[in-house]
Amino acid sequence: MSADAELIELAKQARDKAYCPYSGYSVGSALRCADGTVYTGCNVENASLGLTICAERTALVKMVSEGCHRVVAIAVATKDGVAPCGACLQFIVEFCSDPKLVDVWVANEKGEVGEYTIADLLPHGFDKSSLD
Ligand code: THU
Repeated sequence: MSADAELIELAKQARDKAYCPYSGYSVGSALRCADGTVYTGCNVENASLGLTICAERTALVKMVSEGCHRVVAIAVATKDGVAPCGACLQFIVEFCSDPKLVDVWVANEKGEVGEYTIADLLPHGFDKSSLD
């Protein structure tokens, strides 16, 4: 697996748009959907803290609202290169055909990039088959 440089760069650019006056922790995300289109997102905080939306979910909601339901790779940019939170992983799983094949790139400010798959990070996600 070689890092998706375009996706990582777009995640870094999206991070500049983060609205995070409460935590001061900015996050950017960029995902590639099945038809190749890229959607980006940043975290959007709210004075009612629980309403905060993570960067990854911002990008996913943009993707779905444009009619695409399949993510193939996602990049996340933060100060320190952390992986998506559990809520975002569960949200991503909803739109993966196979979580083992969906790449996750996590970039930090030093230019380092970590690589995972969604299945690495959430091996037992709850999906449609759980409801059968
Ligand atoms: N955040 C994200 O955007 N993505 C994650 O996966 C974890 C956390 C945001 C939410 C909040 O605005 C800030 O990071 C601190 O928790």
